[in-house]
Amino acid sequence: MLFKRVKPLDQIIATAEKKSLVRQLGPFQLTMLGIGAIIGTGIFVLTAEAGQKAGPGMMIAFVIAAVVCAFAALAYAELASMVPVAGSAYTYTYGVLGEGTAWIVGWALVLEYTIAASTVCVGWSGYVNGLLSHAGFGLPHFLQAGPMDGGSFNLLACLIGLAVTGLLVIGTSKSAKVNTALVLIKIAALTAFIFIALPAVKDQNFTPFVPNGWGSPMGGIGVLGAAASIVFAYIGFDAISTAAEETKNPNRNIPIALIASLSVCTIYYLLVSYAAVGSVGAQPMLDANGLALEPGTPAFAAACNGSQALVCSKEALSHVVRLLNHNTVAAGIAFAAGIALPSVILTMTYGQTRIFFTMSRDGLLPTSLAKIHPRFHTPHVITLITGTFVSLFGALFPVGILADITNSGTLFAFIMVAIGVLILRRTQPDRPRPFRTPMPWVICPLAVIGCLLLFLNLSKEAKVTFFVWAVIGLVVYYLYGYRKSHLANGTEPA
Ligand code: ALA
Repeated sequence: MLFKRVKPLDQIIATAEKKSLVRQLGPFQLTMLGIGAIIGTGIFVLTAEAGQKAGPGMMIAFVIAAVVCAFAALAYAELASMVPVAGSAYTYTYGVLGEGTAWIVGWALVLEYTIAASTVCVGWSGYVNGLLSHAGFGLPHFLQAGPMDGGSFNLLACLIGLAVTGLLVIGTSKSAKVNTALVLIKIAALTAFIFIALPAVKDQNFTPFVPNGWGSPMGGIGVLGAAASIVFAYIGFDAISTAAEETKNPNRNIPIALIASLSVCTIYYLLVSYAAVGSVGAQPMLDANGLALEPGTPAFAAACNGSQALVCSKEALSHVVRLLNHNTVAAGIAFAAGIALPSVILTMTYGQTRIFFTMSRDGLLPTSLAKIHPRFHTPHVITLITGTFVSLFGALFPVGILADITNSGTLFAFIMVAIGVLILRRTQPDRPRPFRTPMPWVICPLAVIGCLLLFLNLSKEAKVTFFVWAVIGLVVYYLYGYRKSHLANGTEPA
């Protein structure tokens, strides 16, 4: 049943054209949109988490995650250029594998977008709490982190989630100019970091290089465990394909922007991780038996209490620069993160509302969810629901666990996209492909294998959450979308 009800690609494109958005984005703005969505908590915060899992070997984790994401991006680019409409992996799957599978992908994208927004809320709070504490206005400790992370309620993570939700409800979307300015601020912060940390690199900080090994059968540790978490740092390039309906000449511009933004970010990430590890070291915190503690657990939080280790920091890049005695630059980096990370929260929350919009346009979610506010002209109902969950998860869960859960949904979507490319090459070989994945029979299977390998190396909590979420999704589909689907009932709105 899952593979029935394939929606013809021409019909997908026709539906989108009926209710279409204005095409105004060019290749530069689109690349900036990509970089704006990509650079965030991953590099600014999860560098510490990756160090705890992999030690200095986290540099390899950045490379592995980049390669897997690049393969997935090449597959995305082909489908995005063939079906340049909103909805990303959900829409492509609908046109290739059918409604049931598309629903599961859309359901998994909730993990990708909503939980990613929560993750960035927590990352943002780490920098702003650090900034406030160093200025002598720190919040009480129990309000600086969630219950698993040595606190009770992460107040700032919750507040930033609510603030961004408010902005989205009243219809604030980032203008292209504001986005470009924020991208430049982030790039400036990373460049300053590299300039300060790179000259301080010392050989001895690279040994032992892989203190926790390459991985474990249960996942969540070693270089592969770190790579699975670091996928988070590259997420966002698919936000480009969700903007397909708003793009000028999408067939050409989407692939260009996908590849350009991913390349710029990869170069920066490799330089930043090398400089961070080499300048202050990144050895993991160990338990009494000499085994690495799991980040995001009370035991890890207790071991980190008062420690200056990079792996314990919630504001990794500022912390490194402070250890190198550049307090003003450290404050500048924290300030840049404080200003720029909310835009990633905005992009992710906005992306979620776009996907819900597409799913309700197909009749798989109630149209009332996509109701438009009479005054603000925004889908306020779904924005408020999404924003409430974003804020609550941000207040209660540690950044690493949220990132891994995000990645579970994302890797699943990547796998479906790569499979979709291969199926369409067989079933519709003559359909125009403005962008063709090079060597698809090599790249796409490698993308699938790479994503599967990383999925298996996610933390246990993330894998369990993914499967429980998928089962709930199937129940919801059979109770609602299966019956109400416009495609099945022939009730496609005119
Ligand atoms: N890649 C984005 C980040 O790291 C989601 O914050």
